[in-house]
Amino acid sequence: MTLTPLRLRKAVLPVAGLGTRVLPGTKTTPKELLNVVDRPILSYIVEEAREAGIEHIVFVTGRSKGAIEDYFDHQVELEAQLEAKGKTELLDQLLAELPQAGEMSFTRQMQPKGLGHAVWCARDIIGREPFAVMLPDVIVDGRPGALKQLVQAYEETGGNVIGVEAVPDSETHKYGIVDPISRNGRRVSMKGMVEKPAQGTSPSNLSISGRYILQPEIFDLLATQERGAGNEIQLTDAMARLMGEQAFTAIEYEGVTHDCGDKIGLLRANVALALKRPDLGAAAREAIAALL
Ligand code: G1P
Repeated sequence: MTLTPLRLRKAVLPVAGLGTRVLPGTKTTPKELLNVVDRPILSYIVEEAREAGIEHIVFVTGRSKGAIEDYFDHQVELEAQLEAKGKTELLDQLLAELPQAGEMSFTRQMQPKGLGHAVWCARDIIGREPFAVMLPDVIVDGRPGALKQLVQAYEETGGNVIGVEAVPDSETHKYGIVDPISRNGRRVSMKGMVEKPAQGTSPSNLSISGRYILQPEIFDLLATQERGAGNEIQLTDAMARLMGEQAFTAIEYEGVTHDCGDKIGLLRANVALALKRPDLGAAAREAIAALL
């Protein structure tokens, strides 16, 4: 008898990072609120979460990230002005992004101890149920979105599911990398994973790209997880331990991944997503062509 996996309802978005790779733009603006075309990176991530059926988002924030909480609340004066000026389309767009009361929680990672520690900070709010982790640096342009593709696999496999993407061999040292055994279409079974392998030692070129579905037992392992790569508590290290006890599947999802935490990645996301927009694509193409 196969048990239906518990439904995925909650997602953790770790947004405490300082965004040093895109300074000075992130000196006073959280990097997650930098614009891609005309809306913040975070707006794309929240949209992807909702499409995948996520009902509650837990933001793990840090000092000077208060603007994120404000972004997902009413901006009363602005809304009144848009209403008075008859700009209803814009107003509707703003209102559509707002959560219903109680659908978002905010907790703080008070010290920068790494991604594993950030996820652990959400343990009480998540409780004992499966949850997603979505790295907000990463916009995935996919149909359906990357998390939904992971959910579709999870509904069949249960356990833990992570999104992976092939990267050039010269880049593997920047990521968590999986050690694959075999592949069935886009599903990859694994025997291990390693965070930021030294150049020349990577077990493959499949990087863990920032979308995860995890079982709550990961919290128990994170509680005792020792520091790893970069002297930080790494989620990858705790997942590698959990792999000894529970099923893990990697999904090479369909879509284009944009690392918006990086100057060129952010620029590329802006160009790529502007070109695809029905209302802006033609004008963007013309403007870019004129520059080249
Ligand atoms: C984090 C994760 C890493 C993952 C990467 C994706 O690293 O630790 O496993 O591959 O995100 O962007 P970071 O980029 O925070 O160093």
